Amino acid sequence: MRRFEVVFQPGGRTVEVVEGTTLLEAASLAGVPLEGVCGGRGTCGKCEVRAKGKLSPSTSSERRALGDKLSLGARLACQARVLGRVVVEVPDASLRLGQKILREGVTRYVPLDPMVKKRFLCLSKPSLDDQRTDLERVLDALGEGRAADLNALRELPFVVRRNEFRVTAVAVDGTLVAVEGGDTSGRCFGVAFDVGTTTLVGYLLDLSTGEEVGASAAMNPQAACGDDVISRIGYLMEHEDGLERLHEGIIEALNELISELCRDYEVRPDEVYLISVVGNTCMHHLFLKLDPRNIASVPFVPVVSDPLVFKAEELGLKAHREARVVVLPNVAAYVGADIVGGILATGLWEVEAPTLLVDIGTNGEMVLSADGRMMACS
Ligand code: FES
Repeated sequence: MRRFEVVFQPGGRTVEVVEGTTLLEAASLAGVPLEGVCGGRGTCGKCEVRAKGKLSPSTSSERRALGDKLSLGARLACQARVLGRVVVEVPDASLRLGQKILREGVTRYVPLDPMVKKRFLCLSKPSLDDQRTDLERVLDALGEGRAADLNALRELPFVVRRNEFRVTAVAVDGTLVAVEGGDTSGRCFGVAFDVGTTTLVGYLLDLSTGEEVGASAAMNPQAACGDDVISRIGYLMEHEDGLERLHEGIIEALNELISELCRDYEVRPDEVYLISVVGNTCMHHLFLKLDPRNIASVPFVPVVSDPLVFKAEELGLKAHREARVVVLPNVAAYVGADIVGGILATGLWEVEAPTLLVDIGTNGEMVLSADGRMMACS
């Protein structure tokens, strides 16, 4: 397939795309935050640009939305397809800019018990009187360890001997997953992500103290494929590689947030051992690359609603090799893990008086807690 250059002005961001790519897709590849409110259906008119170069003929949606402006070079970026080199002028009105992202809040006391734990160990050296294996030596010192994974076993003999048997054990739910030289027990971090329909917020947490180290936020790049969850599901149903693209966009954006947090707070990405993720059911599915189309139609059935744990590397998240990703459970198609996170964060089930938790986001949800029961709607 032929490839052509698309240049976005002002700024001159340039990207090479295959023939037939829409200008909206090219903008997303170039990192230009073009509006895509209707998910590229040609109905909202928000992605209007001026373009010069070889493009596909105007569509009926463009003729309806742009009228006479078509003859002046105006196009809908979601409709115009690249057939040669193109220069695109993006007006400010078509950019997703100036959104304020809330990333601070109140906290409450929660006992610290992360699933990833690090412990510094001074091991006794082997001798003819003490021929325990390297693993037995570590697990005995840990007291609570049960097993080890293969990567940890492979590095174990080298790390313990190189460091005079003074090492830090990294365990996930009691299983040894890594051994580090010296005392690194104070360097254990986690990132908590709130994957919103419009915005992404990441919190860097010190898992040895429970303190929040810092926060960072970004726009959800999927917004170019529709402003709300239904438009986004529509996008993936209309594009063969839609699910792949929406998933990759979110993973890339979360990786950028991890590296930004690490850079700003002087933490190495391989010191991030735990990542938690909440989001509405559609965002949750797209993050996991699960097809969410069945939540858009009767009887509104998600693929899964259980809590899930994966290795970060399975999802392409850049953290410690053994980092785990904890995905909170959904309640239903439109009551997501984000509201579950809200319930956990506020301790809603413990309050005595009838209390309403309201999540005002791009998609809104409410939970009423009363008489020991909770009822949710969206
Ligand atoms: S008209 Fe292009 S995104 Fe809505």
